[in-house]
Amino acid sequence: MDHHWAEKHSHLDTDLDYFFMLLNEARKATAAPPSIFQSSGKPVMPFLTAENITKQFQRRKKKEGVWGTLTLLLNPEYEVINAVDDISFAVDQGEMVGYIGPNGAGKSTTIKMLAGILTPTRGRLEVCGLDPCRSRKEHTRNIGVVFGQRTHLWWDVPVIDSLALLRDIYKGPEAQYRANLSLFNDLLGLHEFQHVPVRQLSLGQRVRADIAAALQHNPQILFLDEPTIGVDVISKDKLRRFIQQINRDRKVTVILTTHDTNEIEKLCPRVIIIDQGRLIYDGSVDNIRAHYGSERVMTVEFEEEIADFELPTAALLKSEGRKKWYRFNRFDTPVSDLIAQLSAHCGVVDLTVQDREIEEVIRAIYLDKAQKMRD
Ligand SMILES: Nc1ncnc2c1ncn2[C@@H]1O[C@H](COP(=O)(O)OP(=O)(O)OP(=O)(O)O)[C@@H](O)[C@H]1O
Ligand SMILES: [Mg+2]
Repeated sequence: MDHHWAEKHSHLDTDLDYFFMLLNEARKATAAPPSIFQSSGKPVMPFLTAENITKQFQRRKKKEGVWGTLTLLLNPEYEVINAVDDISFAVDQGEMVGYIGPNGAGKSTTIKMLAGILTPTRGRLEVCGLDPCRSRKEHTRNIGVVFGQRTHLWWDVPVIDSLALLRDIYKGPEAQYRANLSLFNDLLGLHEFQHVPVRQLSLGQRVRADIAAALQHNPQILFLDEPTIGVDVISKDKLRRFIQQINRDRKVTVILTTHDTNEIEKLCPRVIIIDQGRLIYDGSVDNIRAHYGSERVMTVEFEEEIADFELPTAALLKSEGRKKWYRFNRFDTPVSDLIAQLSAHCGVVDLTVQDREIEEVIRAIYLDKAQKMRD
């Protein structure tokens, strides 16, 4: 693990440990909250609102060279950074929202504020009708939190005993515990490793156990901070289906941060993109595609190898043997026109048309907006 990573995440051990301690204390002390569902299944109060939230951190300044280091050692100087900078958004009951952005954008800081771990420097938060910090005890009953990089479970205790301990802490009904256990067995394959102590679990197993633990008290909302970091493709797939199912069947609202755009595409109809603490996009993935992903790429295989040529409405991207790649705008150029123009040059054996990869599109948004913010 590199030095910068460790330095950047050194705060995790303190504030998360503290949070999980509070979480368990709070759950012990609080009665089950009233359901926010009416019998019709409609929410009776607004779900999640973030209004102009800002989180500032103080950071020790660094200076180049021995002299700079020495001066700062004797006389430390601090700078204030806006990890989250005036962000507003609202989430409805049952939504699944991807909260994405490059490293250091402020995603985990936002999740920690939503979970009541950190207090915003400015702004207002309301989750299930409560202020996450002021009503921390009641709030922790409504939420489930998973940090992919940290476990919430007891290190030396087998998974099944951890879940039983949590059941005793929550004082939830036995029937609910049994029903959840059977769901977790079916969908997360928990029985495969339920008697293994948490410290001996593989990363994928540990995350599955953590998600089961976070959902055991039937929370209304689930915050997932990079839940599948370092998890293999098959386990990722399992987790994805599970998250989809609890969102669909139990109407659990999900806020998910991830660097995996494939996961976003498969799970989240809506994304919020942040960069350097600022909100740069809030809307549907389809909209991103429509606005930023108007470009398509056509791959053509000709009957024989021919010289490169441009077309009036498509740019040649690359050429390899009998294949050529052309970029065109899906709204300005009908595919049939392109085929006609290409066939005029040489017989076409095969062709495929692809949208620009969503990953590429999101990268373009980061770069574009970050540049505009700097200008
Ligand atoms: N406790 C803290 N003290 C000082 N600075 C912090 C603290 N927590 C976060 N930061 C800083 O705030 C900024 C946002 O950090 P955050 O962890 O929210 O980013 P992120 O979007 O989750 O990034 P990543 O994708 O790497 O997980 C970073 O510059 C980070 O160094
Ligand atoms: Mg993070």
